[in-house]
Amino acid sequence: MSVTDYLRISLIDRCNFRCVYCMPEGEELSYLLGPELLTNDEILTLVTEVFGPLGFRRFRLTGGEPLLRPGLVDLVANLAALPTTEDLALTTNGFLLADLAADLYAAGLRRINISLDSLNPDTFDLLAGNRGRSRWPQVWAGIQAAHAAGFDPLKLNVVVIPGINDGEVEALAGLTRDRNWHVRFIEFMPIGNDALFGDRGWISSESLRDRIRGLWGLDDGSVLGAGPADVFQIPGAIGTVGFISQMSECFCDRCNRMRLSADGWLRPCLLNESAQIDLRSPLRSGERLGALRDRVAALLAAKPEINFKQRDAGTTGRYGRTMSQIGG
Ligand code: GTP
Ligand code: 5AD
Ligand code: SF4
Repeated sequence: MSVTDYLRISLIDRCNFRCVYCMPEGEELSYLLGPELLTNDEILTLVTEVFGPLGFRRFRLTGGEPLLRPGLVDLVANLAALPTTEDLALTTNGFLLADLAADLYAAGLRRINISLDSLNPDTFDLLAGNRGRSRWPQVWAGIQAAHAAGFDPLKLNVVVIPGINDGEVEALAGLTRDRNWHVRFIEFMPIGNDALFGDRGWISSESLRDRIRGLWGLDDGSVLGAGPADVFQIPGAIGTVGFISQMSECFCDRCNRMRLSADGWLRPCLLNESAQIDLRSPLRSGERLGALRDRVAALLAAKPEINFKQRDAGTTGRYGRTMSQIGG
């Protein structure tokens, strides 16, 4: 069993994309109001007084889309400066990154994961739920800006949807041959858009590895990270190819993370809604931070029993939060 020392902090539940694998189609999502979001000070208090003393050392900022969060650069600077922060990273769709990459790097962020589901603008827009002018060029510019700013490792996340972008696996993996980028293929999970999952299903990482191995060969690889990816490398490549295989391989026994929602709910597992606890109300009502820490410690102790196999969508039988609202 792994030590839980990695906190994914969702900074906002809104997203400027509507990726079809992540959000239910044709449904309006309701979003949090500004005062419901944890403030930067509240996040810093929780990190320094609650999570830090419990051994959390690695932090990832997520959304929705975290680049939509006002005050993001200040928050990054404050988190990066904490003596207990050993690793600070961010996951984004990249759309607003061209303008922000250099500032984020200057604030102390060193590691960034960007979604890039396709190299084909039409397929990209289809998956991103975008109907207007293509957003692919701006995302590509965001990736280039992150590269130019010095982010390392720079990871690209691809959710593989059968019949939509699965034909691009070789082209996407091929990016790592002459670039120091780390492309990760993610098995499509039944959370977010159940209808699409029912229609399309998912493709195993093993079959994708076989295709890449057949074309170029594939060695074991490694890259700095705290997540569940299995890492490989095309012989002679600069970057790596990773696989996140939550459907074909249960990696819950090496789960090392918890998730803090933008409104202060602490979730012990991506796919468990019943066990989450509210940290914002006690924080705002002035409860002692030691008491808050005890509650988190109790949830940490219960976490090994809460995992993907015991997935639990709460009393409604349907997850109340989409993948975008949880932050992936
Ligand atoms: P690093 O390895 O540290 O770079 O980060 P990461 O891979 O944990 O971060 P990222 O936000 O890029 O996560 C990529 C995807 O992995 C997520 O969007 C999820 O689809 C999947 N994932 C991450 N953590 C979990 C988890 O705890 N359970 C499951 N089932 N999937 C996860
Ligand atoms: N299955 C797998 N990964 C998903 N993501 C969103 N929805 C799903 C899903 N249904 C991932 C994307 C994105 C992150 C926020 O969540 O990779 O990078
Ligand atoms: Fe897409 Fe990420 Fe936004 Fe979900 S949160 S809609 S995966 S960009």
